[in-house]
Amino acid sequence: MPGIKAAPVSLARLTQALQRTLPMGRLEHQALPDLPPGEVLQLALINADFPTGPLPGDVMRDVVATPAYWAFCWGSGQALARYLLENPALVRNKRVLDLGSGSGVAGIAAAKAGAAEVVACDIDADAALATRYNAALNKVSLSLVDDFTSQAPFDAVLMADVLYDSSNLPLLASARACSSEVWVADSRISELADPEYELRAELDALTIPNLGEFDEFGVTRIWRAGAHKSPAPTSAVPSGE
Ligand SMILES: C[S@@+](CC[C@H](N)C(=O)[O-])C[C@H]1O[C@@H](n2cnc3c(N)ncnc32)[C@H](O)[C@@H]1O
Repeated sequence: MPGIKAAPVSLARLTQALQRTLPMGRLEHQALPDLPPGEVLQLALINADFPTGPLPGDVMRDVVATPAYWAFCWGSGQALARYLLENPALVRNKRVLDLGSGSGVAGIAAAKAGAAEVVACDIDADAALATRYNAALNKVSLSLVDDFTSQAPFDAVLMADVLYDSSNLPLLASARACSSEVWVADSRISELADPEYELRAELDALTIPNLGEFDEFGVTRIWRAGAHKSPAPTSAVPSGE
């Protein structure tokens, strides 16, 4: 049974969620750069002029305790979205899970690329809200679930920037167990120890908004695990080959 169908969420409600952690933050619609011609994907993200200086102590404590990851489009999510929109056959007509959806960027790109169904899952309730808002903003439909294993099987799982926390490494195996194919995008790690995952592409992408401190993670690697090896899409040959 799919989860709750995505329903529109107001920008005011999402802003309220952001300001619980960052009282001085605003949300702005920001468009992803470098998409294939004719493709537009917008997200409500923290204002690009958000001050980058030290935050007051109490705000800093809240940011560390409940980071609003969903208010950024991480380089990995942006790169995976571009990859899917450049290679829509990878998800077309498939049942896709966006695991660790944050803003929903990867799942929204999959829906725009022609996925038959997109399910999103995030442990952060505010991220689920953001995913719903951004899905409506991009006029695509997706479902939110709390427990993705109960929704298996999937044809493809997307994991963009979820391995920032090493305690999430077991998700590589649990995603494999419930899907014929898994795509992992990550700008923070250069190798996956799991031999099932094969490097398919390296793409340049910076987190949006780019508040400066994320520049070191400017290259995203994309890995695929799946029962059948398939040739890499022509646009996806790892750089340096
Ligand atoms: C750095 S953000 C990436 C968001 C988005 N995929 C992107 O690329 O912009 C990581 C997201 O994974 C979520 N997350 C972390 N651990 C998770 C878990 N075990 N299951 C589901 N979501 C998780 C976090 O709440 C957060 O929204």
